Amino acid sequence: MFVKNAWYVAATAIEVLGKPLARTLLNERVVLFRGADGRAVALEDRCCHRLAPLSLGDVEPGGIRCRYHGLKFDGAGQCVEIPGQDAIPAGMCVRAFPLVERHGLLWIWLGPPALAQADEIVDVHWNGAPGWPTATGYIHYKANYQLIADNLLDFSHLAFVHRTTLANSALVNARPEITSFERGIRLNRVIVDCDPSPLHAMAGQFTGKVDFWNRQAWWLPSVFENWAGSVPTGGEGQAHERAGGLHLRHFSLLTPETERSTHYFWVQPCQFPHDDPGMIERVQTGIDTAFAEDRWIIEAQQEVINASPDIKPKAIRSDAALGRVRFMIEQLLEQERKAAGE
Ligand code: FES
Ligand SMILES: [Fe+2]
Repeated sequence: MFVKNAWYVAATAIEVLGKPLARTLLNERVVLFRGADGRAVALEDRCCHRLAPLSLGDVEPGGIRCRYHGLKFDGAGQCVEIPGQDAIPAGMCVRAFPLVERHGLLWIWLGPPALAQADEIVDVHWNGAPGWPTATGYIHYKANYQLIADNLLDFSHLAFVHRTTLANSALVNARPEITSFERGIRLNRVIVDCDPSPLHAMAGQFTGKVDFWNRQAWWLPSVFENWAGSVPTGGEGQAHERAGGLHLRHFSLLTPETERSTHYFWVQPCQFPHDDPGMIERVQTGIDTAFAEDRWIIEAQQEVINASPDIKPKAIRSDAALGRVRFMIEQLLEQERKAAGE
């Protein structure tokens, strides 16, 4: 079961250029393509004639043509042409999904279209913006999105999984302050006068102790925002407001594919306290390495769960945030079940 009434990233804008892109999102087969005006659209990837995938078809001015018997569908999913037949029967259409291109990403709404409000899309305007060199990535995960969410919401794993990248030994004992808001939860954490993690030491070119912060939001159901940074220790005022800091405006954007697989998009716009032009490539490599470490343990965890699906996990103190998000997601699912009359 997935929360349907939410905006999810379907693809990056540059993934959808010439050819149609087929992607399964929340168990729905979707085809993404751009019309002649350059606008990206998302349709059900299942021709309503004999159920062939539309993604094998050809994009033409005014729509996409199925490769099997040539029916053509416009960007709203309406059949507009049947070769060898003048009349188009009523109901000859496929589902069209609301799709919004914003800040380099294509956001899709898979719930009832009437409920889609584009102003609810999470703000990732730093992505590729001037002054924000940006590392980006996509990982196809063989795991349920909630296992990845659990990992992002619990930084006690950093010292163990990310020994060479994100590990900051002080994090194990630095409990975040957790608050709820109407769209999810926020987690704030400041550690004063600590050694920087290997990634922060490299990216910020810090040689001594730093004050480190995380200012995070979990936007239900599956967007993680992490404004993380470090600044040399000892200054006046709050660490994230002081000059000379390293600022990493990270977003992890999880889109369920199936119950056991996830599309994981991430963007990490950076502001460095120096002007080393090659640093963004090194940050890219550092994050790629760190996320491969997460994937290694989470996919292994999913395999264990597959083999023993009835065994329930036991909670410890550092599970507070993930427990709260899991509870909130259950509430959203319950609301959607009620609205659907189930
Ligand atoms: S299956 Fe698409 S035109 Fe026949
Ligand atoms: Fe991690």
